[in-house]
Amino acid sequence: MKWIVACDRRGGIGKDGKLLVRLPSDMKYFREQTLGKTVIMGRATLESFPGGKPLPKRRNIVLSSRLPESSSYEVCRSVEQLLEMVKEENPDDLFVIGGGQIYRLLLPYCDEALITEIDEIFPSDTSVPLLSSDAEWKCVSKSSPVSENGVTYTFTVYRRIGA
Ligand SMILES: NC(=O)c1ccc[n+]([C@@H]2O[C@H](COP(=O)([O-])OP(=O)(O)OC[C@H]3O[C@@H](n4cnc5c(N)ncnc54)[C@H](OP(=O)(O)O)[C@@H]3O)[C@@H](O)[C@H]2O)c1
Repeated sequence: MKWIVACDRRGGIGKDGKLLVRLPSDMKYFREQTLGKTVIMGRATLESFPGGKPLPKRRNIVLSSRLPESSSYEVCRSVEQLLEMVKEENPDDLFVIGGGQIYRLLLPYCDEALITEIDEIFPSDTSVPLLSSDAEWKCVSKSSPVSENGVTYTFTVYRRIGA
Protein backbone atom coordinates (compact mmCIF):
# COMPACT_ATOMS: atom_id res chain seq x y z
CA MET A 1 0.00 0.00 0.00
CA LYS A 2 1.22 3.53 -0.72
CA TRP A 3 0.55 6.87 0.89
CA ILE A 4 0.10 9.83 -1.44
CA VAL A 5 -0.15 13.22 0.24
CA ALA A 6 0.71 16.89 -0.12
CA CYS A 7 1.81 18.48 3.14
CA ASP A 8 3.46 21.64 4.40
CA ARG A 9 6.59 21.90 6.58
CA ARG A 10 4.64 21.00 9.73
CA GLY A 11 2.73 18.15 8.08
CA GLY A 12 -0.39 20.29 7.58
CA ILE A 13 -2.72 18.86 4.90
CA GLY A 14 -6.07 20.62 5.20
CA LYS A 15 -8.27 23.25 6.79
CA ASP A 16 -12.06 23.48 7.09
CA GLY A 17 -12.48 20.30 5.03
CA LYS A 18 -10.40 21.65 2.13
CA LEU A 19 -6.86 21.44 0.80
CA LEU A 20 -4.38 24.10 1.94
CA VAL A 21 -3.55 25.37 -1.52
CA ARG A 22 -4.33 24.61 -5.17
CA LEU A 23 -1.29 23.17 -6.94
CA PRO A 24 -2.12 22.20 -10.55
CA SER A 25 1.10 20.23 -11.19
CA ASP A 26 0.54 18.28 -7.99
CA MET A 27 -3.04 17.50 -9.08
CA LYS A 28 -1.66 16.23 -12.39
CA TYR A 29 0.95 14.10 -10.58
CA PHE A 30 -1.75 12.67 -8.27
CA ARG A 31 -3.92 11.81 -11.26
CA GLU A 32 -1.05 10.16 -13.15
CA GLN A 33 -0.06 8.07 -10.14
CA THR A 34 -3.57 6.87 -9.25
CA LEU A 35 -5.42 6.47 -12.59
CA GLY A 36 -6.62 2.92 -13.06
CA LYS A 37 -5.64 2.05 -9.48
CA THR A 38 -7.49 1.73 -6.17
CA VAL A 39 -7.84 4.82 -3.98
CA ILE A 40 -8.67 4.46 -0.29
CA MET A 41 -10.06 7.44 1.63
CA GLY A 42 -12.05 8.56 4.65
CA ARG A 43 -15.59 9.87 4.46
CA ALA A 44 -14.49 13.49 5.00
CA THR A 45 -12.13 13.31 2.02
CA LEU A 46 -14.89 11.93 -0.23
CA GLU A 47 -17.10 14.82 0.91
CA SER A 48 -14.31 17.31 0.03
CA PHE A 49 -14.41 16.30 -3.65
CA PRO A 50 -16.54 18.33 -6.10
CA GLY A 51 -20.15 17.29 -5.56
CA GLY A 52 -18.97 14.69 -3.02
CA LYS A 53 -18.36 12.37 -5.97
CA PRO A 54 -15.66 9.66 -6.11
CA LEU A 55 -12.66 9.95 -8.43
CA PRO A 56 -13.32 8.76 -11.99
CA LYS A 57 -11.43 5.85 -13.58
CA ARG A 58 -10.30 4.47 -10.22
CA ARG A 59 -11.67 1.91 -7.76
CA ASN A 60 -12.84 4.10 -4.85
CA ILE A 61 -13.01 2.62 -1.36
CA VAL A 62 -14.38 4.87 1.39
CA LEU A 63 -13.90 4.13 5.08
CA SER A 64 -16.94 5.14 7.15
CA SER A 65 -19.06 3.80 9.97
CA ARG A 66 -22.20 5.48 8.68
CA LEU A 67 -22.14 6.12 4.91
CA PRO A 68 -24.77 4.03 3.16
CA GLU A 69 -23.73 1.66 0.37
CA SER A 70 -23.42 3.33 -3.04
CA SER A 71 -23.17 2.26 -6.65
CA SER A 72 -20.34 4.71 -7.36
CA TYR A 73 -17.91 3.69 -4.60
CA GLU A 74 -17.35 0.86 -2.13
CA VAL A 75 -17.90 1.47 1.57
CA CYS A 76 -15.69 -0.16 4.15
CA ARG A 77 -16.34 -0.25 7.91
CA SER A 78 -12.93 -1.25 9.34
CA VAL A 79 -9.28 -1.87 8.53
CA GLU A 80 -9.92 -5.63 8.72
CA GLN A 81 -12.69 -5.37 6.14
CA LEU A 82 -10.46 -3.18 3.94
CA LEU A 83 -7.64 -5.73 3.96
CA GLU A 84 -10.13 -8.42 2.97
CA MET A 85 -11.53 -6.26 0.13
CA VAL A 86 -8.11 -5.62 -1.43
CA LYS A 87 -6.43 -8.96 -0.80
CA GLU A 88 -6.47 -9.94 -4.50
CA GLU A 89 -4.88 -6.67 -5.60
CA ASN A 90 -1.24 -5.83 -6.20
CA PRO A 91 -0.23 -3.81 -3.10
CA ASP A 92 1.58 -1.33 -5.38
CA ASP A 93 -1.78 -0.43 -6.92
CA LEU A 94 -3.36 0.59 -3.59
CA PHE A 95 -3.16 4.29 -2.75
CA VAL A 96 -4.13 5.80 0.59
CA ILE A 97 -5.34 9.29 -0.37
CA GLY A 98 -6.40 10.78 2.95
CA GLY A 99 -7.39 12.50 4.98
CA GLY A 100 -5.65 12.92 8.32
CA GLN A 101 -7.45 10.08 10.13
CA ILE A 102 -7.01 7.59 7.33
CA TYR A 103 -3.35 8.44 6.66
CA ARG A 104 -2.58 7.70 10.33
CA LEU A 105 -4.79 4.60 10.44
CA LEU A 106 -3.16 3.00 7.39
CA LEU A 107 0.46 4.15 7.71
CA PRO A 108 1.45 0.84 9.38
CA TYR A 109 0.30 -0.99 6.21
CA CYS A 110 2.27 1.27 3.82
CA ASP A 111 5.83 0.68 2.63
CA GLU A 112 6.07 3.63 0.29
CA ALA A 113 4.98 7.25 0.57
CA LEU A 114 4.70 9.75 -2.27
CA ILE A 115 4.91 13.07 -0.48
CA THR A 116 4.58 16.45 -2.10
CA GLU A 117 6.54 18.58 0.34
CA ILE A 118 5.33 22.19 0.30
CA ASP A 119 7.95 24.61 1.55
CA GLU A 120 5.49 26.75 3.51
CA ILE A 121 3.60 26.79 6.78
CA PHE A 122 -0.15 27.26 6.36
CA PRO A 123 -2.87 27.55 8.98
CA SER A 124 -4.25 23.99 9.12
CA ASP A 125 -6.53 21.82 11.27
CA THR A 126 -5.52 18.44 9.83
CA SER A 127 -2.04 16.99 9.56
CA VAL A 128 0.09 13.91 8.97
CA PRO A 129 3.23 12.77 10.78
CA LEU A 130 6.43 13.94 9.06
CA LEU A 131 8.24 10.90 7.65
CA SER A 132 11.33 13.08 7.08
CA SER A 133 11.93 12.92 10.84
CA ASP A 134 10.89 9.27 11.27
CA ALA A 135 13.81 6.84 11.64
CA GLU A 136 11.74 4.05 10.06
CA TRP A 137 11.57 5.89 6.73
CA LYS A 138 14.14 7.17 4.25
CA CYS A 139 13.82 9.53 1.31
CA VAL A 140 14.78 7.70 -1.90
CA SER A 141 13.86 10.33 -4.47
CA LYS A 142 13.35 14.08 -4.59
CA SER A 143 12.44 16.18 -7.63
CA SER A 144 13.78 19.62 -8.37
CA PRO A 145 11.60 22.35 -6.86
CA VAL A 146 8.40 23.44 -8.59
CA SER A 147 6.95 26.93 -8.07
CA GLU A 148 3.23 27.55 -8.47
CA ASN A 149 0.69 29.93 -6.98
CA GLY A 150 3.45 31.59 -4.98
CA VAL A 151 4.67 28.42 -3.25
CA THR A 152 7.59 26.09 -3.86
CA TYR A 153 7.31 22.33 -3.47
CA THR A 154 9.08 19.08 -4.33
CA PHE A 155 7.86 15.59 -5.18
CA THR A 156 9.51 13.09 -2.87
CA VAL A 157 9.34 9.33 -2.39
CA TYR A 158 9.98 7.70 0.98
CA ARG A 159 10.45 3.97 1.62
CA ARG A 160 10.07 2.10 4.86
CA ILE A 161 13.53 0.91 5.88
CA GLY A 162 13.82 -2.85 5.49
CA ALA A 163 10.67 -3.14 3.35
N1 LIG B 1 -3.16 17.43 1.33
C1 LIG B 1 -3.60 16.24 0.98
O1 LIG B 1 -2.89 15.49 0.29
C2 LIG B 1 -4.97 15.79 1.43
C3 LIG B 1 -5.49 14.58 0.98
C4 LIG B 1 -6.76 14.18 1.42
C5 LIG B 1 -7.46 14.98 2.30
N2 LIG B 1 -6.93 16.14 2.71
C6 LIG B 1 -7.66 17.01 3.67
O2 LIG B 1 -7.85 16.27 4.88
C7 LIG B 1 -9.05 16.77 5.52
C8 LIG B 1 -9.95 15.59 5.85
O3 LIG B 1 -9.27 14.72 6.74
P1 LIG B 1 -9.98 14.16 8.10
O4 LIG B 1 -8.92 13.59 8.96
O5 LIG B 1 -10.85 15.24 8.66
O6 LIG B 1 -10.97 13.04 7.56
P2 LIG B 1 -10.78 11.68 6.70
O7 LIG B 1 -9.57 10.93 7.20
O8 LIG B 1 -10.89 11.99 5.26
O9 LIG B 1 -12.13 10.90 7.09
C9 LIG B 1 -12.45 10.65 8.44
C10 LIG B 1 -13.60 9.67 8.49
O10 LIG B 1 -13.15 8.37 8.12
C11 LIG B 1 -13.93 7.40 8.79
N3 LIG B 1 -13.05 6.52 9.57
C12 LIG B 1 -11.98 6.85 10.32
N4 LIG B 1 -11.44 5.77 10.90
C13 LIG B 1 -12.20 4.70 10.52
C14 LIG B 1 -12.18 3.31 10.80
N5 LIG B 1 -11.23 2.77 11.61
N6 LIG B 1 -13.12 2.53 10.23
C15 LIG B 1 -14.08 3.05 9.41
N7 LIG B 1 -14.16 4.37 9.12
C16 LIG B 1 -13.23 5.18 9.67
C17 LIG B 1 -14.90 8.13 9.69
O11 LIG B 1 -16.08 8.31 8.93
P3 LIG B 1 -17.57 8.30 9.65
O12 LIG B 1 -17.58 9.52 10.50
O13 LIG B 1 -18.51 8.33 8.50
O14 LIG B 1 -17.62 7.01 10.44
C18 LIG B 1 -14.20 9.47 9.87
O15 LIG B 1 -15.07 10.53 10.21
C19 LIG B 1 -9.68 17.75 4.55
O16 LIG B 1 -9.28 19.07 4.91
C20 LIG B 1 -9.07 17.37 3.22
O17 LIG B 1 -9.03 18.44 2.28
C21 LIG B 1 -5.70 16.56 2.31
